[in-house]
Parts: sequence; structure tokens; C-alpha cells
Amino acid sequence: MTKAGVGALGVVLLAVLIFLVVSSWSRQPAAAKPSVQPINFPHNTHVQTYKIDCQYCHADARRSEYAGLPSVQRCLGCHKITAADRPEIKKLAEYGAKGEPIPWTRVYKLPEFTYFPHKAHVRFGVACQTCHGAVETMTTVSARTGPTLTNDLLNVAGFRAAPPPLTMGWCIDCHREQNATRQARAPLDCIACHH
Ligand code: HEC
Ligand code: HEC
Ligand code: HEC
Ligand code: HEC
Ligand code: HEC
Repeated sequence: MTKAGVGALGVVLLAVLIFLVVSSWSRQPAAAKPSVQPINFPHNTHVQTYKIDCQYCHADARRSEYAGLPSVQRCLGCHKITAADRPEIKKLAEYGAKGEPIPWTRVYKLPEFTYFPHKAHVRFGVACQTCHGAVETMTTVSARTGPTLTNDLLNVAGFRAAPPPLTMGWCIDCHREQNATRQARAPLDCIACHH
């Protein structure tokens, strides 16, 4: 490669880098964001190794607006005995003994002025992973999502699929596509998602 060629490549790479940094600063909180959870809950162990269904824990997804999180008692159903000596499970038992819910940090959050019902999507057979990514491989749900520079670089380099950005364009694109290809009746009118 010529000197000029190398120089031009350098400028392009720099521009890409600046774009990524700026775009991760300016992106809206509608995207999934990284978080530190009160208990290090591993989705991969539960879903892949022990074959627990998503909806065993997120049991409201098919019948309400929210997917819901399992109660401490549901966790303790297994963990009174399973791995009871591990530090993370002891924390779990403490919440149980105090009768307090676990203060999980929310990962996926739309702005207040929008309406997103899980029920309609789950009943129509849209897989959780379409919108949340391969949760079954994650040690922390937030670990592979969120607009951080590291995530952006890994996504751009193709090491893993970018998580959906939860924008209005994303909702509408899928609604159009599902209406055209699967005879869905997914709404496109403003009032359906803003009321
Ligand atoms: C069509 C896309 C889509 C599908 C399919 C979907 N979700 Fe969601 N999920 C979202 C969006 C968007 C939010 C944020 C909603 C908000 O802030 O009001 C969310 C939020 C959540 C939350 C946190 C808030 C809550 O509702 O309790 C959980 C847990 C969750 N989803 C689990 C699941 C599971 C489990 C499935 C499959 C059974 C699923 N989701 C299917 C898009 C989806
Ligand atoms: C159906 C049974 C079952 C349920 C329900 C369940 N777990 Fe687990 N969990 C397991 C098994 C099995 C393991 C693997 C234990 C091992 O490594 O020996 C595990 C591992 C864990 C670990 C990792 C422990 C470590 O440090 O190695 C944590 C943390 C955990 N579970 C938290 C939870 C929480 C929080 C809930 C409720 C939201 C929950 N579990 C619900 C069966 C369950
Ligand atoms: C053993 C119970 C359990 C199972 C099984 C489980 N989850 Fe979860 N899930 C949790 C708990 C506890 C949290 C809250 C802690 C966290 O965010 O990691 C959570 C959080 C989530 C969130 C983030 C919610 C938010 O705050 O926005 C999503 C999305 C999610 N789960 C999807 C799934 C999907 C998809 C599956 C199946 C592939 C699944 N979960 C299976 C217990 C479970
Ligand atoms: C991956 C595809 C997909 C994505 C992404 C998606 N939807 Fe949908 N949505 C559907 C389908 C399919 C239906 C229609 C189901 C039917 O015909 O019963 C639907 C239906 C709806 C409905 C109508 C519910 C009802 O009770 O009739 C609302 C409201 C909605 N979606 C909001 C949203 C919002 C807000 C987002 C973005 C945050 C979103 N959707 C993202 C596929 C999607
Ligand atoms: C399928 C669901 C859906 C429909 C239909 C929809 N919106 Fe939205 N809208 C969203 C979601 C989700 C957001 C928040 C995420 C974002 O800002 O992109 C949003 C954000 C917005 C915002 C704030 C934009 C911003 O940058 O903060 C405005 C304004 C808006 N919508 C207007 C409309 C109007 C006008 C219509 C009808 C022509 C409409 N929407 C139809 C889901 C929808």
C-alpha cells in the first residue's frame, strides 16, 4: 500500500472511531443499558444448563403488558437447597428472610409516553430473542447490550449481533414486515403506541 493509502485508511478509521464515541454518548436511554445487579444472576446456567423456560420465571409475558420478574420465593423453591452455600445464594436467602423483594436494576426501558404490551407479541409467536438477543447465553442480561464503546466496536467487527435499539423505527419496521408476511394486525397508528 502507498503512503497516501495508509494515511487515508488512518483518517477513515479515526472518523469511524469518533462517530462511535459520539453516537454512544448521544444515544437516548431507550436503549438497553449496562447495570450492576444486586445478585449476579446467570441466565446461561438456568436456561441452557438447567433448561428452565423463560416463561417459568417471566410468567406474565403471555397475559399482560409486562413480562414480570420471579419472586424471591420462586428462586428459593430451588435455592433453599441448591447451591445454598454460595455467597450469591446467601444474599438471596437474606432477601427471603427479610421478606424483601430483590431490587433488580431495570435493563430494557422505553420512555413513559409509549405503550408496549408483551402479551400481543408473545401470543403471536414473536420469540423473546428477537427483541432481547440471545439471553440464554448471557451471564448478565446487560453484559452484551448497552451503548458502550466496547460493545459498539465488537458489534461493528461482527463478533456479535448488535442488540435492537428499541427505537420507534424498529417497532414500525417490524410491524410493517409482520403485516406483509404473516398477516399480522400490528398497529401503525400513533395512538396504539402513544396513549
Ligand atoms: C417485540 C419485542 C419484544 C418481545 C418479543 C419480548 N420483549 Fe421483553 N421487552 C421489550 C421491550 C420494548 C421492553 C421494555 C418495555 C417498557 O419499558 O415498557 C421489554 C421489557 C422486558 C422485561 C422487563 C420489564 C417487564 O416487562 O417486566 C422483561 C423481564 C422482558 N422484557 C422479558 C421478555 C421475555 C421473557 C420475553 C419472551 C417471553 C419477551 N420479553 C419478549 C420487547 C420485547
Ligand atoms: C428450577 C430451579 C431453579 C430456580 C427456580 C432458580 N435457580 Fe438459580 N440455579 C439453579 C441451579 C441448578 C444452579 C446451578 C448450581 C450449581 O452450579 O451447582 C443455579 C445457579 C444460580 C446462581 C449461581 C450460583 C453460583 O455462585 O455458582 C445464582 C446466583 C442463582 N442461581 C440465582 C437464582 C435466582 C436469583 C433465582 C430466582 C430469580 C434462581 N436462581 C432461580 C436452579 C434454580
Ligand atoms: C430462573 C429464572 C429466569 C429464567 C429461566 C429466565 N430469566 Fe430472565 N431474568 C430473571 C431475573 C431474576 C432477571 C433480573 C436480573 C437480571 O436482569 O439479570 C431477569 C432479567 C431478564 C431481562 C431484563 C429485564 C429488564 O430489566 O429489562 C430480560 C430481557 C430477560 N430476563 C429475558 C429472559 C429470556 C428471553 C429468558 C429465556 C431465554 C429468560 N429471561 C429466562 C430470571 C429468569
Ligand atoms: C419483531 C417484530 C416486532 C417488533 C420489534 C415490535 N412489534 Fe409490536 N407487534 C408485532 C406483531 C406481529 C403484532 C401483532 C400481533 C397480532 O396481529 O395479533 C404487534 C402488535 C403490537 C401492538 C398491538 C397490541 C394489541 O393489543 O393489539 C402494539 C401496541 C405494539 N405491537 C407495540 C409495539 C412497540 C411499542 C414496539 C417497539 C418498542 C413493538 N411493538 C415492536 C411485532 C413486533
Ligand atoms: C409501533 C409503535 C409506535 C407507533 C405506531 C408510533 N410510535 Fe412514536 N414512538 C414509539 C416508541 C417506542 C418511541 C420511543 C423510542 C424512540 O424515541 O425512538 C416513540 C417516540 C416518538 C416520539 C419522540 C421521538 C424522540 O426522538 O424522542 C414522537 C414525537 C413520536 N413517537 C410520535 C409518533 C407519531 C406522530 C406517530 C404516528 C404517525 C407515532 N409516533 C407512531 C413507538 C411508536
